[in-house]
Amino acid sequence: MYCVKNVTDDIYWIGVSDRRLALFENIYPLPKGVSYNSYVLMDEKTVLLDTVDRAVSGAFFENLTHVLDGRVLDYLVVNHMEPDHCAVIEDVVRRYPDVKLVGNAKTFTMMKQFFSFDVDSHALVIKEGDTICTGRHTLAFAMIPMVHWPEAMVTYDACDKVLFSADAFGTFGALNGNIFADEVNFESEWLDDARRYYTNIVGKYGTQVQTALKKTAALDILIICPLHGPVWRENLDWYIDKYQKWSTYTPEDHTVLVLYASIYGNTENTMDVLAGKLADAGEKNIAMYDVSGTDASYLLSEAFRCDRIIFASPTYNAGIFPKMEALLLEMKAHNLQNRRVAVLDNGTWAASAGKQMREILSQMKKMDIYDESMTVKSALKEDNLAHLDGIVEFMKG
Ligand SMILES: Cc1cc2nc3c(=O)[nH]c(=O)nc-3n(C[C@H](O)[C@H](O)[C@H](O)COP(=O)(O)O)c2cc1C
Ligand SMILES: [Fe+2]
Ligand SMILES: [Fe+2]
Repeated sequence: MYCVKNVTDDIYWIGVSDRRLALFENIYPLPKGVSYNSYVLMDEKTVLLDTVDRAVSGAFFENLTHVLDGRVLDYLVVNHMEPDHCAVIEDVVRRYPDVKLVGNAKTFTMMKQFFSFDVDSHALVIKEGDTICTGRHTLAFAMIPMVHWPEAMVTYDACDKVLFSADAFGTFGALNGNIFADEVNFESEWLDDARRYYTNIVGKYGTQVQTALKKTAALDILIICPLHGPVWRENLDWYIDKYQKWSTYTPEDHTVLVLYASIYGNTENTMDVLAGKLADAGEKNIAMYDVSGTDASYLLSEAFRCDRIIFASPTYNAGIFPKMEALLLEMKAHNLQNRRVAVLDNGTWAASAGKQMREILSQMKKMDIYDESMTVKSALKEDNLAHLDGIVEFMKG
């Protein structure tokens, strides 16, 4: 049975949620599922805006058929060529052989790479500033390169002031009946996953997101329709402000994040002692994670949220404990910057993890690194405590 929702009188959400997929992009855990959003504009012309992942194609076509109600499909706008939104393009073309596929030059280069059907006979190549009049509505297109693929673009409907924003403003999390952000407790139940989605998937491209935000700031927007997660029609400025912070690597919270690895528990004990000292010094809401126990996607997201980070790792075969090393490299790869950080290591015969962690951190931009190093020799001892106090002082700023 179809499951369709009105966004406006003549714009429909025909997305489908997947609550079975374990890993998005085969890497990011999805404990709350994910939605693949797709929209239909029913004007004098009919327009489909993006499609869905192969996994949910059955429900998607049921929705599309219901909304079209016997009419043919005139246009399919392809804002983003990633397969989670494009896997069924060829199936759409088969069902609606006269459909015009709307995209930019890069869209069609990619489409020809992914598919083998006759793309050119369906292609309507648009560029920045071009418009398509569909009757009452006029659709305009703006490029948002590298948010987070080169061909990405947004579509703006000036009639109802709706922005179809591709992956921008998307989030992990299945839609459970409520398709609007104002119908759910977004800040308490969705924001962490929205941050995790942004930081892991788009986080590397802060500069390009800034360019995109400036472009969209020029538009009068009442509704944002992203390709994942809820539709925004209230409180847009609050969410845009989050994007402003994330894309400029500005921390959201004045909070210490403690990230440690530990094999036998001694580095963990050291961090418990340190966190207690931080609390004694007045730090609130300290966030602490064992990097072996929490997926790196959550920890990267926490690193974008918090303004200060402490890294602690045992030495492991003359290197950094692998989970910690992978996490640090992820942070570097995602361009994390502008944080105050302290490092300590542990070793039983030749500790070197600290030096190697510093090396990675020093390759990241605008990192204020505590310049004193500390090594725990197997287990924390009284003579280490003064150094922990030094870290607490440094974290105060
Ligand atoms: C596989 C393995 C490799 C290790 N390699 C080193 C090393 O290269 N240098 C060192 O000083 N200690 C090494 N250690 C010892 C740990 O770093 C050390 O015992 C540390 O105190 C462990 O801290 P933890 O109690 O938090 O796990 C290694 C331990 C393991 C299990
Ligand atoms: Fe994408
Ligand atoms: Fe996507």
